[in-house]
Amino acid sequence: MIVNVEDARQAARKRLPKIFFDYVDGGSFNEDTLRANRADFQRWTLVQRVLNDISVRDLSTDFLGTRHPLPFMPGPVGFLGLYAGHGEIAAARAAHAAGVPLCLSTFSIASLGELRAATAGPLHFQLYVMSDRAIGDELLAQAEAAGVDTLYLTVDTAITGVRERDVRNGFRALTRITPGLALRLAARPAWCLDMLRAGLPEVGAVKHRPGFGKGVLEQAGNLSRRIDTGLSWKDVDWLRGRWKGRLVLKGILSPEDALTARAAGADAIVVSNHGGRQLDATSSTIAALPGIAEAVGGSLEVLFDGGVRRGADIVKALALGASGVLLGRAYVYGLGAAGEAGVARILSHLAEEVSLTLALMGLTSVDELKARGRTALTARAA
Ligand SMILES: Cc1cc2nc3c(=O)[nH]c(=O)nc-3n(C[C@H](O)[C@H](O)[C@H](O)COP(=O)(O)O)c2cc1C
Repeated sequence: MIVNVEDARQAARKRLPKIFFDYVDGGSFNEDTLRANRADFQRWTLVQRVLNDISVRDLSTDFLGTRHPLPFMPGPVGFLGLYAGHGEIAAARAAHAAGVPLCLSTFSIASLGELRAATAGPLHFQLYVMSDRAIGDELLAQAEAAGVDTLYLTVDTAITGVRERDVRNGFRALTRITPGLALRLAARPAWCLDMLRAGLPEVGAVKHRPGFGKGVLEQAGNLSRRIDTGLSWKDVDWLRGRWKGRLVLKGILSPEDALTARAAGADAIVVSNHGGRQLDATSSTIAALPGIAEAVGGSLEVLFDGGVRRGADIVKALALGASGVLLGRAYVYGLGAAGEAGVARILSHLAEEVSLTLALMGLTSVDELKARGRTALTARAA
């Protein structure tokens, strides 16, 4: 039975081939930052207040220029279509049913056009900038055509950290399905059947470009190799001039970079360390958030991700200055466990946990929590 995110994680572990489960679950090098993203939530405790009539609660709040019914949404995660057949469409449908957008990753099986054709709700798009700027131009045009109003430029992945689980599983070197891999995949028959029904997965953004090869593994490898390692603030200027919608820089972990992002014309940032998949031994995101929120002092919108598995985690991030929270692995475990229904279950569980947590804190709404800010929490003695 799935009653929380950890249950979904265990169910996804059973349903997904190990090579893909480890790709989702793992972090870089020693996985210290991956663990710190979870553990550091414990540095804060919630202030309990009572006798406040909490019979009616309101989880709606503003972030990224829109009033959303929930203070969180599914953020960009690559290859959703590998964890469940048509995974991007499944995740988007679950998000839309909950009234929130899905942010589609550049590294997706469904292209923006395919996702738009299958869903009517709000879509955001996450861009990786490639050395070949024609690819970026094409993706931006697709985003405009799909009615995307919010673009995330991910800025913490000009190169990729080594995820040792992937090295051990041979994931990084794979370009096609070898007989050995086929055997390992066959150990997960329900997943295999789901994939066979959905058809050969390819990377939607480049499948029409012969230079990227055939099939998701080869295309993803070629796409990763073409991420522009020279990405700099000059490129943010270029993108700011080119993209008329809302621009969010994802992967900011220092107050200095947050201030530079504001000066570069970003509308918002996501305090993120890519879920502990990039620079290991760096700060957890919940430890970095207060300093960043304080530095920008309300002059730049701050979103948050990293290690969110419980409603209380979301409450803490909102109290520490985040306007909204992005989910990563939490919803992907749901997707890997049970497709669209699994994502829906995770979203509703987290909504319920946020609602109950607020109530037990004596609060009736997310906006009240935001107004209370850091005084809703107590720092645990070190
Ligand atoms: C399997 C996986 C793939 C990801 N792919 C992307 C991506 O394509 N683009 C991106 O900006 N972030 C990507 N991320 C990072 C997430 O957007 C997010 O920052 C991170 O997962 C948050 O940490 P959490 O999973 O602990 O909540 C990925 C994360 C995971 C786990």
